[in-house]
Parts: sequence; C-alpha cells; structure tokens
Amino acid sequence: DDQPIAVQGAMDVEVSALLKQMGSYRTETYGSYTYYIGFIDSVPVVVSRTEVGMVNAAASTTLLIEKYHPKAIVNQGTAGGHDPNLHVFDTVVGTKVMNIGNYRTERLADGQGIKPETWIFQETSIREHDQETSYETFSSDPELVKAALSAAPSYKHGKVTEGFIGSADVWNREVDRIQWFHDKLGTSAEEMEAAAVAQVAQAFHVPYLSLRTISNSEVSGDTIEDLTTAGQYGAEFAVEVVKAIDQQI
Ligand code: 5AD
Repeated sequence: DDQPIAVQGAMDVEVSALLKQMGSYRTETYGSYTYYIGFIDSVPVVVSRTEVGMVNAAASTTLLIEKYHPKAIVNQGTAGGHDPNLHVFDTVVGTKVMNIGNYRTERLADGQGIKPETWIFQETSIREHDQETSYETFSSDPELVKAALSAAPSYKHGKVTEGFIGSADVWNREVDRIQWFHDKLGTSAEEMEAAAVAQVAQAFHVPYLSLRTISNSEVSGDTIEDLTTAGQYGAEFAVEVVKAIDQQI
C-alpha cells in the first residue's frame, strides 16, 4: 500500500536531517503545523514539525492522522536523561511512555506546604469505541520497536537501548526530583511530546513508536548539553528506522 510512514520532530534541529535525506518534498502548513511530504529511498513519508510541548504534539498528531492517514507514527527527538547510565547521544527506543505531568495531590491544609514527593500520578483515560479505557502508560508498537532495534547497529554515536520515556510540559533540573522519577516510575529520560502523541495515536488506533536521543543529563556526570547535535543524530537514526520499518512491515 502507499500509506506513508510519519516521522515527527518538535524543532527544526530534529527534522532537518530527515528533510536533507528526502531531498525534494512538498510542504503543507495548517496553523502552526508544517508537514513535509516526500520519500526516503522509495518509502513514502510525511515529516511533521510538531512544535514543542504536549498541546502542540497532540494537535499536530490529530491533523497528521486526519490529513495523511499514516500507517505508523515515529515520534523522535531529544530528551534529558533520568537513568544515570544513559549518556549524551545515547538513543532510547521508548517501549513505554507516560504523561508524568498528570497527577493529583492529597489535601494539605493552610500552612501545611507543598510536598511534590507525595503527588500521586493519574492514569490517562481514552474513549475508544464508546468505552473508557485507562492507561497507566502507553506502549510503542512491538513490530516498530523490533524494526528500530534492528537498525541499532547503524547508530555510531552511543548505545541504543529500550527504555521508558516520561513526558510533560516541564524541564526538570532538580537532581533529587529526577532521581525520584527514575526510582518511583523507572523513567529512562524526559521530554515534552511522546505521551501526547501516544495518547492521540491510541485513540485513532495508529501504531506508534517513540525514539529519543539524550541531549542533556543532570545525573550521568556528563556536562555537555547539545540539542542541535542530539537532534541531528536522532533524526539520522530515524532515517534508518524508517527503512527498517519499510523492510519489516
Ligand atoms: N526536559 C524536557 N524536554 C527536553 N527536551 C530535551 N531535553 C529535555 C529535558 N531535559 C526536548 C523536549 C522539547 C525540547 C525543549 O527539547 O522534547 O521538544
């Protein structure tokens, strides 16, 4: 069939290597959201610049699905490490993703303060076929994960590992908080789009894959922070993943 594979990046640095690989492409813009339609090798692709954050990710994914009917959605880009064993330029295949900004607090009375470590994570509820289903986490499609792992030997800038991606409209730099996420939930890395994309993809039953290249980490001992290079390396890997998906699916 000729349904395209969609590849998303929030920022130009996360899509430019894909556009370079496509060579020529058609550009379509709806509101804030631009889509680049073309081919990688002979594989039909739609590259989507989602813009940053959960709302942009959700809105641009909804338009992507309605306008282009992709057979798979690859959400990729940069992330901050939560796992101390992940270093800058390592790439995580996000087998699970979770909205880590979805929580409630117990009541504390006037003067009892703010206790972030007691906040309680909430499941995400989706209406599917008029049934409410609650998701603690969303899973990347196992066939897409398999394809991504098969492309791993081509990645030369670090290791490629399976992991757990936490998403929210937050950039955490408090080491105790990062360690708390890692210990309590098992997060490997954080970013600002994956769970929003996964939620919409689940609602429309479109297979989904999360890929993230570490651009910064407060817990690994690395001192570099480089979104530009991590964005480029991640997008170059996404090119290889697209080819692997086309071979295998
Ligand atoms: N925390 C949150 N988002 C991050 N990003 C990279 N590193 C982090 C981090 N430590 C990504 C987000 C967003 C952009 C600001 O970079 O996904 O698109």
